[in-house]
Amino acid sequence: MASSQSRRKFLQTGSVALAASQLPRAARAADHEGGKLAKDGGTRAVSGKPGARVRWGDAEKAQLSAAVDQPSIFYWAGGKPNRQTALFIERFKQYCPREHVVTCSSGTAALHVAVAAAGIGPGDEVITTPISDIGTIAGILFQQGVPVFADLGASTYNLDPQAVERAVTPRTKAIIAVHLAGNPCDMTALRAIADRHKLVLIEDCAQAWGARYQGRPVGSIGHVGCYSLMDSKHIGTGDGGVVTSSDPRIGPALLKFSDKGGDRLDPKNSYATTSVLATNYRMSELQAGFGAVQLQRLEAIAAKRAALGRLLVEGISGLPAVMPPAIAPADRSSFWFFYFRLRLDRLRCDRAEFVAALRAEGASCSPGYIPVPLYKMPYFQQHAFFAGRWPVKELGLTKMDYTQVKCPEAEAILTTGVMCPLNEGMDEALIREIGAAVRKVAKHYTV
Ligand SMILES: Cc1ncc(COP(=O)(O)O)c(C=O)c1O
Repeated sequence: MASSQSRRKFLQTGSVALAASQLPRAARAADHEGGKLAKDGGTRAVSGKPGARVRWGDAEKAQLSAAVDQPSIFYWAGGKPNRQTALFIERFKQYCPREHVVTCSSGTAALHVAVAAAGIGPGDEVITTPISDIGTIAGILFQQGVPVFADLGASTYNLDPQAVERAVTPRTKAIIAVHLAGNPCDMTALRAIADRHKLVLIEDCAQAWGARYQGRPVGSIGHVGCYSLMDSKHIGTGDGGVVTSSDPRIGPALLKFSDKGGDRLDPKNSYATTSVLATNYRMSELQAGFGAVQLQRLEAIAAKRAALGRLLVEGISGLPAVMPPAIAPADRSSFWFFYFRLRLDRLRCDRAEFVAALRAEGASCSPGYIPVPLYKMPYFQQHAFFAGRWPVKELGLTKMDYTQVKCPEAEAILTTGVMCPLNEGMDEALIREIGAAVRKVAKHYTV
């Protein structure tokens, strides 16, 4: 008797499972909503796995091999960029037409070159975001400038133009707009502020390869564009960077600030005549050749991420306890990662429990992004950037006190956010499942 009952049960569950397996994965995922959470023994909402990303292949090998056959793999030859560097620059200009395009060793280097070429000096203020990689602000500090942190949009996670306007003082010289996670900043508003106050607008596009602001590639709206080719980015060269400008005041200076102050385009230039102190941020031919091929892969990568990201935004919209990211309809985010926020007052769990439940459903995710806003890092709080000291403050060139800085929205973005990896190895079915997992967990915990 017991065995016939268990057999019937087995057949029932077996046939349900069979029927379910014949449904499209996304429809099955929708069935999970309202169901028991996977962490409590329910069925996982996510059954798919991301496919492997094809990051490089024969085309890169062939390009590297061509570079190895050259007599020199230094970036400069015969008074002009060497072959691989020239190819990279040519392809970069097809992607984003800028008059001056300079390859360099990292995104951090590109940003340092940008602020140096923009003329940032001791005590000059540069307004930027408190949520970014340290590479965004390192160059400001090395030029003895003062990073000034402005608050962010609640769902764009990018600079709020009104907060930027409030942060402008007579010492302000530049704005660094970071297109976080690939979502373009409000460049019309930021450019208007920059123009009104005669500021240099630098775009940090490290996370935003392939992103477009109202149809234009990011990096082409401000005065300077900076990019990272570090391994984890949309495209990469292991490490590397690019800095670009069409501004006649800044563009010609990019080369010398990336190459020890020397201007290789000026035959009269030498260490005896240079007037700028700069370090060595050069990129070799091997990376440039590799990067030139990577640029040919970019559009497919960015288009796929943009489509998957939009699908996930739709998938998690309309929930009272979840705030999806806001991407302007005319823009293209290239989703370096996917970040959404929780309305914790609408949930009867904390973020850690939500993330644990989502992971148990099979959705890869983690709480937050950087642990604290940049101004809360110890060397900001202690004004101790250079061997425990900050000469700019000691000399009275700034009254900045980072212990008093508060960007409430940025702090809330970091304490209520959930980050999900998103990349071109994924497919729509998987993204729909992840959306269903978020809906299932959110519905379960919503008060
Ligand atoms: C927004 C942003 N800016 C700058 C950088 C620095 O780039 P790199 O690591 O190539 O120096 C990064 C790196 O992740 C970044 O995400």
